[in-house]
Amino acid sequence: MEIISIPKIMQETSKEYLVDGKTIGLVPTMGALHEGHLSLVGRAKQENDITVVSIFVNPIQFGASEDLERYPRDIEGDTEKLRREKVDIIFMPEISSMYPEVFLTYVEVEKISERLCGAFRPGHFRGVATVVTKLLNIVKPTRAYFGQKDFQQSIIIKQLVKDLNMDVDVVVCPTVREQDGLAMSSRNAYLDRAQREAATVIYRCLKEASDLIKSGVIDRTYIKGLMQDRLLKEPAVSSVDYAGVYDPETMNELSEIKGDVLLTVALRIGDTRLIDNMLVTSSDYQIQQPNFKSLKERAI
Ligand code: PAJ
Repeated sequence: MEIISIPKIMQETSKEYLVDGKTIGLVPTMGALHEGHLSLVGRAKQENDITVVSIFVNPIQFGASEDLERYPRDIEGDTEKLRREKVDIIFMPEISSMYPEVFLTYVEVEKISERLCGAFRPGHFRGVATVVTKLLNIVKPTRAYFGQKDFQQSIIIKQLVKDLNMDVDVVVCPTVREQDGLAMSSRNAYLDRAQREAATVIYRCLKEASDLIKSGVIDRTYIKGLMQDRLLKEPAVSSVDYAGVYDPETMNELSEIKGDVLLTVALRIGDTRLIDNMLVTSSDYQIQQPNFKSLKERAI
């Protein structure tokens, strides 16, 4: 396993692999790796000749009052995990090589970046879109892997790749959960025992709402109310940024449950911000959808 920290060297290395006809899979991360990250690595390894994992705690996606300073870092542990996974390259740049003193270009994906987490973390997705664009230009992957855990992030990255004609396949992988349902996250390390126990309310709330929709309860006001109620009843929850039913393409709140819907939650336990989501597809629930074919047949 090779560890590269200089962007230009990473770029040259990738170029050589591509000239040799090899495919490259990139898994961008901020480190403190857990099974969620490793599931993306496993998928990248399966589908590509060369797997690159980037570890970079990207300062420009953290707000001034956010957890950049205390964000968990475990370079030794991460390196060991990736060695075990037989990853080919870790790309671990310094902040100064990603953002030299004169750095003037940012990538902004409009509208979908303004909703949900974007509304509560101004500038966050601009930072994500900028660093992901840089990582894609440096590593030149054939495929890049992201987790559904950060659903909005994955939609934003798909949009930016499409809008900027970037030649890479964006692969979104399922959320990996702890046994009790809590989505794995580097930030779970901030939780003490009682908070960790309380955090299961997120999965329970999403599961209850999803099961209700699947059983035919498609009243979105009721579902939203139920989600808010379940979360706010948990005393360890200090605030709920959002909880409800959203359009998985536009990230707008839905006025009715129709087609594919995204149940999504962001809240704080103490001062730890946690997010999670569950996608309910139209085929998961019974609803009379106008069937275009049969309507046409009837018209004939
Ligand atoms: P980070 O939070 O380290 O996550 C890296 C990738 O792992 C993301 O695509 C995220 O969605 C995925 N991931 C995290 N937890 C997961 C879980 N429980 N199951 C499946 N996938 C999971 O997301 C970022 O870093 C950064 O914003 C980044 C894209 C690297 C840009 O800085």
